[in-house]
Amino acid sequence: MTRKTVFSGLQPSGNLHIGNYLGALRNWVKLQEEYDCIYCVVDLHAITVPLDPVEFNTDRLEAAKVLIAAGVDPERSLFYYQSQVPQHTELAWILGTITSTGQLNRMTQFKDKADRAGSNLGLYSYPVLMAADILLFRADAVPVGEDQKQHLELTRDLVERFNHRFGDEFPMPEPIIPDKGARVMSLQDPTAKMSKFEPDESSRILILDDPDTIRQRLKGAVTDSETEVRYDRAEKPGVSNLIEIMSLFTGASVESIEAEFGGGGYGNFKEAVAEAVIAGLAPLRSNYKELDDAEVARLMQRGALDARTRAEGFQQAVRKRVGLAG
Ligand code: AMP
Ligand code: TRP
Repeated sequence: MTRKTVFSGLQPSGNLHIGNYLGALRNWVKLQEEYDCIYCVVDLHAITVPLDPVEFNTDRLEAAKVLIAAGVDPERSLFYYQSQVPQHTELAWILGTITSTGQLNRMTQFKDKADRAGSNLGLYSYPVLMAADILLFRADAVPVGEDQKQHLELTRDLVERFNHRFGDEFPMPEPIIPDKGARVMSLQDPTAKMSKFEPDESSRILILDDPDTIRQRLKGAVTDSETEVRYDRAEKPGVSNLIEIMSLFTGASVESIEAEFGGGGYGNFKEAVAEAVIAGLAPLRSNYKELDDAEVARLMQRGALDARTRAEGFQQAVRKRVGLAG
């Protein structure tokens, strides 16, 4: 039986945080056991907000290294930079011709980012490029955090529209959204998701933060005026977020964390969460230090070459469907 295909992407905009790790990355790694996985550092998505080119180039390599250090295995999975595989943008153009601007106008991520960074055509058509990423290799499943649900819906609508108009070409991709960790919240405003783009650095823990920074961030995490460590997303969003983070890093259940720390006050609890995060990220940190930049760059080149070859076969079928062959 042929294995199903998984595709996912991550923007290399620096500031990779534990939300990216718990919501997406960790699952990417596990899925490699069962699926034919394609993981892409989506640099063309990242440049839809203004970035310093020199810094960006470094961040892009750093993201590739973090993914490898976390367990994305370039020997098992197809792993490359999006910009090195031009079939992504070609398919995005074709899909753009069947995307309604009305639907793009409703994308909440576009509205959020346009409010903060200013609007541009790339930011507006971002979800179409994402649909092309997913459909290029005919992915069956897409592991993402909850914030990407709306983009997945658009992708699914485009599959229906394309297949209806041009014949059955694309399988319907299913999102894989984890039950826990799909929405890790900001440490400073636990009603907002932890984000790369939030100016306040104390709102997040970066995957590569050193142990002291992690302790400091958790010590300063916003909780509430009570003292009881109890899981209640509505009434105690800050404490609940910390419980969830601890549970994800240690594997302990929410109930057992409540039982252990319930009456002990927030200070103790935050220290224990910090130690759990530090221990959970330690293997990744040490793998990261072992990686050689030139070797990773070489792996990315090889990945791009494989991806271009594989994408071209699929893309020829699309060109034929829409009358662009020959
Ligand atoms: P991005 O940082 O936007 O490229 O997102 C990369 C992946 O991380 C996507 O699958 C997101 O859904 C996921 N993600 C981003 N922020 C969070 C968060 N705060 N909690 C859980 N998952 C997240
Ligand atoms: N838009 C996604 C994010 O911000 C990143 C992304 C781009 C992606 N293309 C993708 C995720 C394809 C899954 C599949 O997180």
